[in-house]
Amino acid sequence: MKPRNAINAPDKWELNVLSTFEARKAKGESLDNMVFSETVNENGKKYFRFMKAIPTGEVCLKCHGTDIEQPVVSKLDELYPADQARGYKAGDIRGAFSIKQPM
Ligand code: HEC
Repeated sequence: MKPRNAINAPDKWELNVLSTFEARKAKGESLDNMVFSETVNENGKKYFRFMKAIPTGEVCLKCHGTDIEQPVVSKLDELYPADQARGYKAGDIRGAFSIKQPM
């Protein structure tokens, strides 16, 4: 929901699934195997869509946490001026793997 590289920003379907992942997490569901799949119709074509949540681990905080080292901050500012992917805590949903397969 807070991409570092805009190329990774979710589409409408993905954004909706990410919101339901947040709601499922808030109800206590583990992120270990949090998935969702659906067959969708787009402009008369059928697609299988699948997403799996990516949990934020301790190691991720070096670049996605609240206390990022200064050289890393400088490089992120240089390469990703519109970076939103900071301020995460371990256990947060960082994103999701997403598959879109024509049927
Ligand atoms: C060394 C720094 C670094 C670490 C450590 C790191 N990331 Fe990232 N992460 C990045 C950068 C840089 C990008 C942008 C990549 C690109 O340009 O597509 C990124 C992008 C992502 C994205 C794609 C969405 C977006 O924000 O653009 C996800 C998901 C992600 N990281 C998850 C993780 C997870 C989960 C971990 C820990 C297992 C992790 N990252 C650890 C630097 C890092």
